[in-house]
Amino acid sequence: MLDWVRKKEPIKTIDPLQIDIHSHLLPRLDDGVQSYEESEDVILHFKKLGYKKLITTPHVMSDAYKNTTKKILARLDKLRMYLENQEIDMQIEAAAEYYLDEQVYQMVEQNEEMLTFGKNFLLFETNFLNEPFNMKEFIFLATTKGYKPVLAHPERYLYLQNNLEKAEDLIDRGVLFQMNISSITGFYSKIVQTTAHKLIDKGWVHLLGSDCHHLQHVRLVEEAQQLKYFQKALSLPLLNNSL
Ligand SMILES: [Fe+2]
Repeated sequence: MLDWVRKKEPIKTIDPLQIDIHSHLLPRLDDGVQSYEESEDVILHFKKLGYKKLITTPHVMSDAYKNTTKKILARLDKLRMYLENQEIDMQIEAAAEYYLDEQVYQMVEQNEEMLTFGKNFLLFETNFLNEPFNMKEFIFLATTKGYKPVLAHPERYLYLQNNLEKAEDLIDRGVLFQMNISSITGFYSKIVQTTAHKLIDKGWVHLLGSDCHHLQHVRLVEEAQQLKYFQKALSLPLLNNSL
């Protein structure tokens, strides 16, 4: 048989996700886990799925979760101590999920210490229905201050679901997209799932995150691992494992 007939495309091996960059695992700081024991259960489940590092991201939201950098880092220390006592081997770091409101805008404007991960990645979320009036201004401000804005779960915003041009415009402005793994399973809704598929098809996913608040969410990550679109997302040049 001729050589060229025998030659096959090399099988691409896809690296499993080892680093998660979006979760709510610091007890009682937000609507995530409410005790160290609950955090432990979730972390052990992540470990079972092959994760080596969890960058957890409590909500910072002026009218609901008044978490400061100091408060988050103090709770991180406590969780690390708890895990050490339990002899659980998992790297835990903390950043934050900043809700785009006047307060976060001012924090960036006034050079307050922000919690970031990787190369100054700043995770932020917005109102689910309408594009915030100051979104483009915020992206410009954050970028000029040296941050790389990362939009949490773009597939969940109504203002992006039916307007992928707007999504593309955000990417052109330097925004990275972090998709929630559970969106791929249809957990939130059909439209969120469809939008997630479209973003994966276009290659507009830079990071995957669990957005894990409790045990059910980490089980969804496990469920998603079996799905074609999750595997397709993994084949994109994701930044997760470089962090
Ligand atoms: Fe979140």
